[in-house]
Amino acid sequence: MLEQFQAGIAITGCGACTPQASVDNFGLSQIVETSDEWISTRTGIKQRRLASPDDSLSAIATSAAINALEMAAIAPSDLDLIILATSTPDDLFGSASLIQAQLGATRAVAFDLTAACSGFVFGMVTAAQFIRTGVYRNVLLIGADVLSRWVDWSDRSTCVLFGDGAGAVVMQALEGGCDRLLGFELRSDGTQNHFLSLAYQAQPQELIEGVSVAKGIYHPITMNGQEVYRFAVKRVPEVIEKALFRANLSVDRVDWLLLHQANQRILDAVASRLKIPDTKVISNLANYGNTSAASIPIALDQAVRQGKIKPGDTIAASGFGAGLTWGAAIFQWG
Ligand code: ACO
Repeated sequence: MLEQFQAGIAITGCGACTPQASVDNFGLSQIVETSDEWISTRTGIKQRRLASPDDSLSAIATSAAINALEMAAIAPSDLDLIILATSTPDDLFGSASLIQAQLGATRAVAFDLTAACSGFVFGMVTAAQFIRTGVYRNVLLIGADVLSRWVDWSDRSTCVLFGDGAGAVVMQALEGGCDRLLGFELRSDGTQNHFLSLAYQAQPQELIEGVSVAKGIYHPITMNGQEVYRFAVKRVPEVIEKALFRANLSVDRVDWLLLHQANQRILDAVASRLKIPDTKVISNLANYGNTSAASIPIALDQAVRQGKIKPGDTIAASGFGAGLTWGAAIFQWG
């Protein structure tokens, strides 16, 4: 399959950064009517990191990126492309360029990519297209979100779920017929968009007679938790199986199942449907909650630095969330 491509892909570095402040379930029970028992048993979450008013998405994303570049042993000036997967930029025009400037990645072109909690997997596949076609050699992919700025802190059904953070990987061109991105599959279904949204609410404002524009605000996150849960448990195993099929691998060849960290019950149900043992499931939900586009690279970074994930290990990663969007990528680390 590789002969039609100019280069393969290696994922050579990872990094993460999470804000200092940590709030546990007892802390949240002071804000909304909830309990550690409810949150722990329904989600597996014990605490989450929350960005302070002084933090910015681009600052935590830049820190994660620096750690990934150090591991990959490449300089920011070697980067050709920076993709920032986020739904919560500091600036709606995009935050990737600011990160490019903060890193001093003077040669790199930078842009934001929005696909909610699927953003990291969608970003990995997007980066891969530029590398495989020979256009770029060194790509920095960041997944970062600060959903604490967009939740309704009086809505107990959503505010207990999310945390803030950033994770990053360096993806590099690999010569010699090797390609460590073994297979992928991406999906979207906009007919289910209303199950999870952070929507703009327009208020008409008449400019001159007969001409009105919209001047509104973004409504905080709304979610039909049960529908999103049902969607994830059904669609994520399907998309992983499809990506494994494209990689020509059976499920027993997967060393690590690395899912978007949304809910421990979703992780357990997907692993059970795929018959992947618990020992192969990466989970850091208890400490970070759902960090949206950041959750996969933060969990990857921790597992790599703990020595759990080793060079050559095969990882089945899957992101899912708003859009609705979902996708899987099968890759070998290192
Ligand atoms: N504390 C205490 N009680 C609560 C809380 C809370 N924090 N939140 C809801 N409840 C109550 C409800 O009001 C309800 O009470 P009722 O029976 O008296 O009406 C009861 O608990 C059960 O509520 P459900 O919504 O049915 O609870 P469920 O078991 O479905 O768990 C949850 C809710 C955790 C949100 C689950 O549905 C879920 O994880 N869904 C998936 C969410 C997800 O994965 N999102 C990922 C995408 S994120 C992205 O893309 C940005």
